[in-house]
Amino acid sequence: MNSPVTELIRRRFSCRRHPERPIQAETKQKLQACLNELKVGPFGAEVRFLLLSATEQDRQELKGVGTYGVIKNAAGFIVGAVGPGQKNLEDFGYLMERAILSATDLDLGTCWLGGSFTKSSFAKRIGATAAELVPAVTSLGYVAETSQAEDWIRRRAGGANRLPAEQLFFEERFGNPLPSEAVGEFAVALDMVRWAPSASNKQPWRIIHAGELWHFYLQRTPGYGKDSLIGKLLGVADVQRVDLGIAMCHFELTMQELGVPGGWIIREPALTKPDTHTEYVASWAADPALPG
Ligand SMILES: Cc1cc2nc3c(=O)[nH]c(=O)nc-3n(C[C@H](O)[C@H](O)[C@H](O)COP(=O)(O)O)c2cc1C
Repeated sequence: MNSPVTELIRRRFSCRRHPERPIQAETKQKLQACLNELKVGPFGAEVRFLLLSATEQDRQELKGVGTYGVIKNAAGFIVGAVGPGQKNLEDFGYLMERAILSATDLDLGTCWLGGSFTKSSFAKRIGATAAELVPAVTSLGYVAETSQAEDWIRRRAGGANRLPAEQLFFEERFGNPLPSEAVGEFAVALDMVRWAPSASNKQPWRIIHAGELWHFYLQRTPGYGKDSLIGKLLGVADVQRVDLGIAMCHFELTMQELGVPGGWIIREPALTKPDTHTEYVASWAADPALPG
């Protein structure tokens, strides 16, 4: 990537309006080359990505697959198919977000679209097998000058609100605020998690710091997504698990950029969870043996 990842994370926003302009062949090639590198997520599930130029049929199909928000003039889509794995949706979120940051680096605007794409024409075009899921697609295109200005205003006005850090990040147990001296160089990584996109901006990630470990939890929104009536009817993907993969991506890429070595482990700590909607996902462990 040309720009620092922290800048790309800050620059990315859900771009839902594009000028009627196809993506340049050279930009497409560069993006496809990035997609080809993204093969296996941190938990081992295999993901395949395909860059599609948008057809009118694709644009129409978005209306019937459980997505929300209207995307105007998408020039293309990134479609991804993920194979089996216990944490395959987290793997998918992690890798698709890397793809999105690469697209941001190429000055493209993107929008995550989560829904029930597994039986859609997008799944057919990527040749998804019976063992694969297509949990989301990303629309993309150039960023219109005017929409950029409007989006900036919208963000500042609270349209892209994020929960305060005190409600997301804790020291040793849920509810115990993280003192700033415990955070140090991790403050930037936590801020990058705060700015991560999430389905319906629900921000379901919670992180507990304990010594060398940063435990990532998913605090589900009751009755949302796959648990909602419409979600059940349409068989939508468990998008909040995808959100966790996105948060992990932002955390890890930021730590790499800061040169702090570490990696993911799955070892649930004996912590009391605040409710039955909260589940442990994984922990980032500082490890000097790993490359920074
Ligand atoms: C997994 C996932 C699914 C999403 N699905 C949709 C969608 O179907 N339609 C849409 O307009 N936005 C969708 N979004 C975008 C979110 O609404 C957006 O990220 C959030 O409101 C924060 O705004 P921002 O991306 O501008 O920072 C999705 C985001 C994620 C991460």
